[in-house]
Amino acid sequence: MPGLRWIFPVLLAFLFVTSSTATVAAPDGDGRDRSGRSGDRDGGRDRDRDDRDRDDRDDDDHDDDHDDDDDEMEDLIRHGSRLFRRETFGGNGRTCQSCHTSSTGTINPLQISLLPVDDPIFQHDAADTLGGSTFNRVQQNATFLVNVALPENIRIVGSDDRSVLLPRGVPTIHNTAALDPVLMWDGRAPTLQIQAFEAWLGHSQITELPTDYDLDAVAAFQQTQVTIPQLRKFLEEGRTPKLPRPRTAQQRRGMLFFTDDNPANGNPIKGRCVHCHGGPMLNATTPGTEMIFGIPTGTRFISAFVSEFELGGGTPITYEVTNPDSSVTEITTTDPGRMLITGDPIDASAFKIPTIWGFRNTAPYFHNNSAANIDELMDHYQEYFNFVENVLGIQGFGMTDADKEDIKAYLRLF
Ligand code: HEC
Ligand code: HEC
Repeated sequence: MPGLRWIFPVLLAFLFVTSSTATVAAPDGDGRDRSGRSGDRDGGRDRDRDDRDRDDRDDDDHDDDHDDDDDEMEDLIRHGSRLFRRETFGGNGRTCQSCHTSSTGTINPLQISLLPVDDPIFQHDAADTLGGSTFNRVQQNATFLVNVALPENIRIVGSDDRSVLLPRGVPTIHNTAALDPVLMWDGRAPTLQIQAFEAWLGHSQITELPTDYDLDAVAAFQQTQVTIPQLRKFLEEGRTPKLPRPRTAQQRRGMLFFTDDNPANGNPIKGRCVHCHGGPMLNATTPGTEMIFGIPTGTRFISAFVSEFELGGGTPITYEVTNPDSSVTEITTTDPGRMLITGDPIDASAFKIPTIWGFRNTAPYFHNNSAANIDELMDHYQEYFNFVENVLGIQGFGMTDADKEDIKAYLRLF
């Protein structure tokens, strides 16, 4: 489709807001070592996890040279598991597990509705306004107010504040902590250790500081939380996970819509989801996308128009960005996402492309939990793809109601 090429640079600035790239590589030896060891052995709440522990024990090679290392790693993970589930460091009573529950690695409105009113969830950043006493937002959307500092070149129009509170959903720590180097919706945490430290300070308001050993332990524990056997194989052996195999004609059509990214088939626009949900973890842009759109393969931050369509009803705020050439760009959005990390307006409302693996268990979806379930998720994508076709005039992007049902049928296999 050579006729489309000219329009992409124009479109890109508007549609595919890209940012720094992170190549999705097979995990290194360190990652494999950690994950190969037992999971939540002293917790043992989760039957899947116990099964995995047993598998791990069967797989253990009993090489004496490694026994000390193995024991140290097991101690580290056991300590991390305890910290994750129990430790409050003299804070407000919350543990990591208050928000990252053992069943899903995240928390949803139904789980929140079952909590007693005096649960430590209900305070601080769960309130409608920070520290307030009403909790409608968290009860409806399970979002928490996250405080993000503004970069030097960005200010909020009409305010001297140097940080902003943004309501964000809780990403699951299952599968991602072990397999995804990009942490947080805007990628602002460089390591699991720093992330944990800031989570304890921010969400749990701790008064005693964790040690480096504690931080390593909680990181190592999270890296054992892989719930999908195929992903364990990927982590341990580098074996690329195969996409779920469609069983019905409808699922086959859904898979085609999702994945068919081969420009050689004469229609480069086919396979609309994989443009962004590619690579082994389905969380990075693909070579096909680079060929068609010029976006570097492995790009991890992009806009799926969730903020642009103002889904989730957040309050739009106007940001004034001073560019390197001293020009000023004004951006109005409910959540600037990656832009507050890079200071670059091209990243406005760009978010981490999350993995699709295991997503069935972790509704609601998107950075602000604006899609309550797969139906609402796909309503958004239909609106998005039809906007691309009808408003931006790019033929071949649209999604019919039938397409939507096909994709839903296929998505239920992940
Ligand atoms: C009050 C709820 C809450 C508590 C308690 C909490 N988190 Fe989180 N966690 C969140 C939210 C919300 C985000 C997303 C923030 C963002 O992206 O801006 C998050 C993000 C994360 C991520 C990034 C996951 C990804 O896929 O990017 C990790 C890892 C994580 N938390 C681990 C922890 C650990 C470890 C603790 C305990 C030290 C903890 N969390 C405590 C709410 C919580
Ligand atoms: C332009 C790139 C792009 C395309 C195309 C795209 N996605 Fe996404 N997807 C994203 C981004 C970015 C997010 C996070 C957006 C946010 O939270 O604001 C996301 C979020 C999701 C989530 C939510 C995961 C979670 O844990 O919250 C699912 C599921 C998903 N996409 C499925 C799909 C499907 C199915 C398609 C095809 C119909 C698709 N995506 C097409 C970039 C894309």
